[in-house]
Amino acid sequence: MPSFKIKIDAKGFEYQQNEEDTLLRSALRAGLGFPYECNSGGCGCCKFELLDGEVEDLWPDAPGLSPRDIRKGRKLACQCRATSDCTIKVNFDQHSVPQSTPRRVTVSFVESIKLTDDMAEFVFKSSLPACFIPGQFALLSLPRVKGDRAYSMSNLPNEDGTWCFIIKKMPDGRGSNFIFECLKVGDTIELDGPYGLAFLKAEIPREIVCIGGGSGLSPMISIARAVATDPRINEHKLHLFYGGRGPKDICTPAILAEFGDVKHRLISYNAVSDPDLADKEGWDGAVGFIHELVEKELSENLSAYEFYFCGPPPMTHAIQKMLMIKHKVPFNQLHFDRFF
Ligand SMILES: Cc1cc2nc3c(=O)[nH]c(=O)nc-3n(C[C@H](O)[C@H](O)[C@H](O)COP(=O)(O)OP(=O)(O)OC[C@H]3O[C@@H](n4cnc5c(N)ncnc54)[C@H](O)[C@@H]3O)c2cc1C
Ligand code: FES
Repeated sequence: MPSFKIKIDAKGFEYQQNEEDTLLRSALRAGLGFPYECNSGGCGCCKFELLDGEVEDLWPDAPGLSPRDIRKGRKLACQCRATSDCTIKVNFDQHSVPQSTPRRVTVSFVESIKLTDDMAEFVFKSSLPACFIPGQFALLSLPRVKGDRAYSMSNLPNEDGTWCFIIKKMPDGRGSNFIFECLKVGDTIELDGPYGLAFLKAEIPREIVCIGGGSGLSPMISIARAVATDPRINEHKLHLFYGGRGPKDICTPAILAEFGDVKHRLISYNAVSDPDLADKEGWDGAVGFIHELVEKELSENLSAYEFYFCGPPPMTHAIQKMLMIKHKVPFNQLHFDRFF
């Protein structure tokens, strides 16, 4: 398999990029801190400048590049593959150095467990151990779907190679519809991971707040499972907030039922955002956006908590604004993934 040398201008780093990888994935596999967040073309964090050599652009219309970036010749490392030796300009970031090396594994589909009308937990099995930290995600390559899809693990790392993902079926979504409609038990797909920086920092003694909206539940459940079972953090309290459109989306109480006697350390709060659905379906809980419920329930001293949150960008933006601007929570206490 051909591979190309990638030199980082003026920084003295270089690494090899295999034909099957992107510039970003091969840098992370080499243990380098190439900046990134989504690994999916949405956030723009992996921008670089190509100074010499040639790359293939896998998704020229990726939303992570603005018209200005395009005019300036910037590119996304998660959507580019070198086709010759290259020299690039990018500032590495110690924070992005992987905790464990991402690798490609073949996984076979075992089962799906329905959670709501459009959400289910999908279980896969690999022959190698499932190595990740709660809060991280993997990239799934799906047959006949252009571009990999990022899904966050909902279970805990394990030696027997079990990978679980809570996935929401998106209207007209090519990847999620493939997973819901076409995957058959025993089918195999390729998984690449772990990726992601919004993972559980078990060594931090603060109480944990997890906030998920819509499809952003999966990594929050992985963190909740760690708090419930990991002896290193069995003193931690976790406040789990989940927001859906209507009452039928609220599946967290059923999931938390599996945690048994740790309920006093795992406190669940739910809100629905559509008042008509709340009325129609007889919801007697909170109505509104989930960041409003966080503020209402924990407002006394928000800086006392460590925050993890995932979901659509408008939701993560609203949480960030509320925590950092209104309540002055330091940025290093916020760990989040935007689901583009
Ligand atoms: C870090 C992260 C973690 C995520 N975790 C979860 C999760 O746990 N559960 C969940 O339900 N969803 C999760 N998502 C969202 C998920 O990755 C998909 O965006 C979502 O399922 C919709 O995909 P779709 O194929 O159904 O929709 P589509 O509209 O077909 O595709 C949407 C996404 O696919 C990618 N894409 C589309 N076209 C291309 C292309 N040509 N080349 C490359 N990429 C392309 C882009 O990322 C785009 O946002 C996560 C997203 C991110 C970034
Ligand atoms: S990491 Fe490349 S666009 Fe998000």
